[in-house]
Amino acid sequence: MARPAGHPSRCLPISPQVQECLQQFKVTGAQLRQIQTSLLGSMEQALRGQAGPAPAVRMLPTYVGSIPHGTEQGDFVVLELGATGASLRVLWVTLTGIEGHKVEPRSQEFVIPQEVMLGPGQQLFDFAARCLSEFLDVLPVGNQGLQLGFSFSFPCHQTGLDKSTLISWTKGFKCSDVEGQDVVQLLRDAIQRQGAYSIDVVAVVNDTVGTMMGCEPGVGPCEVGLVVDTGTNACYMEEARHVAVLDEDRGRVCISIEWGSFSDEGALGPVQTIFDRTLDHESLNPGAQRFEKMIGGLYLGELVRLVLAHLAQRGALFGGHTSPVLRSQGSILLEHVAEMEDPSAGAARVHAVLQDLGLNPKASDAEWVQCVCVAVCTRAAQLCAAALAAVLSRLQHSREQQALQIAVATGGRVFERHPRFLSVLRETVMLLAPDCNVSFIPSVDGGGRGVAMVTAVAARLAAHRRLLEETLAPFRLTREQLAEVQAQMREAMAKGLQGEASSLRMLPTYVRATPDGSERGDFLALDLGGTNFRVLLVRVATGGVQISSQIYSIPECVAQGSGQQLFDHIVDCIVDFQQKQGLSGQSLPLGFTFSFPCRQMGLDQVRKTSGSGAGCCDNRVAQQLEASFFVQAVELNVVAIVNDTVGTMMSCGYEDPHCEVGLIVGTGTNACYMEELRNVASVDGDSGQMCINTEWGAFGDDGSLSMLSTRFDACVDQASINPGKQRFEKMISGMYLGEIVRHILLHLTSLGVLFRGQQTQRLQTRDIFKTKFLSEIESDSLALRQVRAILEDLGLPLTSDDALMVLEVCQAVSKRAAQLCGAGVAAVVEKIRENRGLEELTISVGVDGTLYKLHPHFSSLVAATVRELAPRCVVTFLQSEDGSGKGAALVTAVACRLAQRTRV
Ligand code: BG6
Ligand code: GLC
Ligand code: GLC
Repeated sequence: MARPAGHPSRCLPISPQVQECLQQFKVTGAQLRQIQTSLLGSMEQALRGQAGPAPAVRMLPTYVGSIPHGTEQGDFVVLELGATGASLRVLWVTLTGIEGHKVEPRSQEFVIPQEVMLGPGQQLFDFAARCLSEFLDVLPVGNQGLQLGFSFSFPCHQTGLDKSTLISWTKGFKCSDVEGQDVVQLLRDAIQRQGAYSIDVVAVVNDTVGTMMGCEPGVGPCEVGLVVDTGTNACYMEEARHVAVLDEDRGRVCISIEWGSFSDEGALGPVQTIFDRTLDHESLNPGAQRFEKMIGGLYLGELVRLVLAHLAQRGALFGGHTSPVLRSQGSILLEHVAEMEDPSAGAARVHAVLQDLGLNPKASDAEWVQCVCVAVCTRAAQLCAAALAAVLSRLQHSREQQALQIAVATGGRVFERHPRFLSVLRETVMLLAPDCNVSFIPSVDGGGRGVAMVTAVAARLAAHRRLLEETLAPFRLTREQLAEVQAQMREAMAKGLQGEASSLRMLPTYVRATPDGSERGDFLALDLGGTNFRVLLVRVATGGVQISSQIYSIPECVAQGSGQQLFDHIVDCIVDFQQKQGLSGQSLPLGFTFSFPCRQMGLDQVRKTSGSGAGCCDNRVAQQLEASFFVQAVELNVVAIVNDTVGTMMSCGYEDPHCEVGLIVGTGTNACYMEELRNVASVDGDSGQMCINTEWGAFGDDGSLSMLSTRFDACVDQASINPGKQRFEKMISGMYLGEIVRHILLHLTSLGVLFRGQQTQRLQTRDIFKTKFLSEIESDSLALRQVRAILEDLGLPLTSDDALMVLEVCQAVSKRAAQLCGAGVAAVVEKIRENRGLEELTISVGVDGTLYKLHPHFSSLVAATVRELAPRCVVTFLQSEDGSGKGAALVTAVACRLAQRTRV
């Protein structure tokens, strides 16, 4: 007669009914292989982020990225919930950070009453908090702050080391209002309600992860954690690039497989018995966790009970007597099965257990019951082996290794109490994964030590986060602070207009009107902006404006050389452009947009605006330019020199008559707007308007922004070529934001928060961070790994944690910049509204500049700030498409038109 695998040799000839039942629990090698293959397929599908037709394994990333290096240290409280049936365990674990030096943990177990397991969620977490207090009451902890690791062994979506949402209860728990909630928060709330101790819940982990992480160092890398306790599951270290949801291309991440939910009908169907179906049907979660229900300790006793009840009913056991024990769910426990299936336990022992259970066994019953226990447990171990073999195949495949040498940490009561379980598991794994050399290592302290390890790492990361927050706090401006900036800007504007001492120069531009559409003719324009130098031919005709333009580069030696060199270069470019356009020899009126870089080279120490006529000429600039032309024997008629803000406003104003403000946020920043002439002390006349160039970059040069200035702003200012000057601009514009970021990164590195505290030469290099990096890094479409790639291209070797922090630094710096800029715009539009005595002002702002245009969030943050601070102004932002050169030509055109009219 056939005997099932692991069948004790001294079994009596088996009755046909018993034989038939035992046969059902027999699993063939082919069936195990099919489970192995199907489970592997299900794992790979879930890794790719594709949900299969049936609920399959979940493959949940755990935020544990590396196995411990053994240097972790400190005292930690560990709370375990869910691994071992209806009990909860609290441990006090001390990590010494010294290899081989281990301090025994203290622990206490608490039984969770049935009504708590099935009651309201809050009651369960309050119970846990009470157990914690009770445990800590007898320890000399005083009122020190404690760090807690929470081992919560149910399927959860983790979004951080301390954030984990319960997907669904398993294993006999069914508390209300917990599914879909962050269990860490629920525990924190309960601890707070309890109020006895100051405990910070630092990390949450699955029991499999605790098992893996706690594996004694020294036995080689242990990269699989396997638990067979009340339920069953495994975790392992997967290559991050294979986990679609993570979008990370480097390193490894621990994945909790949640294989208990594996339920491929094709693979599991053939091995499922009528008893499995009944058990599932009568469980708290019918249809779910079907694989777990064939392996987990919660279910083994129940399967044995169902088989024995069936056999008793058919008269094959207990003289055909089905006692109440056999009819009541949960009456046979894992402990009973463990004892009865132990091969060293004789029939007398089995007999005694059955009697203790309230059964009345006959002489032959004991041996047959033992056969049933053996069959149920053997199948469990074989199925578990098929699942583990799938993980090993996965590891072999992802690491491209033919022969895999690996340590598997094992944990849970089924391993501890059923010595046979591990031997059947090992044998079956050898059969299913012959190329793998697996060593099984029992977990330390039931996984508690591993939880403490993860907690230690999480505590370090949390401390880093606090330092990051402290560093960035001064960049996070409140509404009140921004309103104060707006108010100070208004005051400085008023003083500047009156000719009183002010950091805002409020320069009259002699542009009195935006174009009226009657301008005609061909004009040349030069646009010397922050990034580019452009020469344009602007044809203003009845049908509109036509532009031909060319960008010329300005070599660095010229940009940083003498004014003479710069103007000679500009003239070379114009001559080249005229030749290409067939304009050689013609003397077209020329408008010159002239901004920041020239000022920096001292060409514009005193910008004198000539008050005569409608054009606006900076005498020195115009003269220098004309002098250069004279040398080259080229005739040119410089009619207007305009600031880039004015050019931008005029350019957008040609399309939209509401455009009465010009804004530049590029290399530098500045704004202009249409002011009432009566308010401009330095220009005669009381009626009409004039465009005022605020030169707001210098706002705060009188110390009024010192409240907002951080140590990093001070560093950037000190290292600049004009310390103490352009303080507002240095907090906003593209030339400086990268430098602010770099100084913050240097500081964070010195605190050990970034780059493992290693200062690199690269980071000490001035200007390595360009504005374009901020714009790229903050782009929403960019995954963290791309952020990392950008930074690595800069020569900064970093981890994903580092990349995330750098991103946050960039966000804080650019947000402050956009909000300050918004406060400035709010001051300007509110002034215009008040000038005109309007309840509500509708106005457009013409904007240009690389930072404003390329940064993914800058423009919307500016607009949001303006809405907040100037609620009575309806402001539309128009991005200048043609640069400000077109505007300069239009100013020239207006000037020519007015000049003609005076001649007539
Ligand atoms: C350009 C304008 O488009 O923007 C220039 O035509 C202006 O006049 C410039 O100075 C500002 O942007 P950036 O980023 O080049 O300084
Ligand atoms: C259940 C849980 C899982 C846990 C396992 C072992 O399957 O869903 O998270 O790891 O039991 O305790
Ligand atoms: C600088 C210049 C200013 C210019 C601005 C934007 O602040 O001083 O004139 O408008 O940069 O380019």
